[in-house]
Amino acid sequence: MSRIAYVNGRYVPHTDASVHVEDRGYQFADGVYEVCEIRDGRIVDERRHLDRLDRSLSELSIRTPFSRRSAGMILREVIRRNRVRSGLVYLQVTRGVARRDHAFPGPEVPPSVVVTAKSVPVERGDHAASAGVKVITLPDNRWDRVDIKSVSLLPNVLAKQKAHEAGAKEAWFVDDAGLVTEGSSTNAWIVTKDGRIVTRPADHGILRGITRTVVVEAIEGEGLTLEERPFSVAEALEAKEAFITAASTIVMPVVAIDDRPIGNGHPGTIASNLRAKFHTYAEQSELVAN
Ligand code: PDD
Repeated sequence: MSRIAYVNGRYVPHTDASVHVEDRGYQFADGVYEVCEIRDGRIVDERRHLDRLDRSLSELSIRTPFSRRSAGMILREVIRRNRVRSGLVYLQVTRGVARRDHAFPGPEVPPSVVVTAKSVPVERGDHAASAGVKVITLPDNRWDRVDIKSVSLLPNVLAKQKAHEAGAKEAWFVDDAGLVTEGSSTNAWIVTKDGRIVTRPADHGILRGITRTVVVEAIEGEGLTLEERPFSVAEALEAKEAFITAASTIVMPVVAIDDRPIGNGHPGTIASNLRAKFHTYAEQSELVAN
């Protein structure tokens, strides 16, 4: 079955899906995006993802190009046409196509909208989670508005590549004070020896992950203790457990940081339980017909 993408009002074969060379996303990374998990044919936390998209657009003064209803319809149609039951749907909005000039184009230029979807077997994540993943640490060299989910991801791309070259799944960014901010595409967590779950407050230093928000609710719901505060690499190395969260990984146990084992070097019970419970706390959309 051939893949289909949505590009500016049209559903087109994935192989032909393209935007103009003067799209500002292409030339200036002048755009924002969202990634939602699709599980059992339903979009996970659609409302929260579209709320965050609105916020990102508004922070960058990009006009919201669709109503909430039509955004949902486009997501669903792309998922349906690609027959995705488990996987990811990607939504990107840029400031549109205009003759190259750093300053914003006029209001007559409509934003560009692209949606793609891909199948990812549930077993792939579960398999990774049963082994746990390794992370490396790197200096955080990003701008100070990483709370905006912008497509300007070059430091993240370079960090992820370094992680892969080191045989790790993720890179944790570390600020000038030696405190972990977040991963290149995930939020970062540890569990202290006495069972307190620690993650950095969602200020301007990190992206407020939707998975993070749901995990905060799950921690409360499960009667666990949350501490929203920064933690250092040294503290993480002494932790009982560590894990990462994102729509693409859900809760993924971390078993080594910079090649040093965390806890007993195996996925922790708190992280594994939060992974198992995650979807009972997340919002599920209605079933996408396919
Ligand atoms: N990344 N931090 C960063 C820098 C991210 O890029 C992401 C998500 C997260 C977690 O956010 P959420 O829980 O809403 O997925 C945190 C997506 C999945 C990506 O870029 O593919």
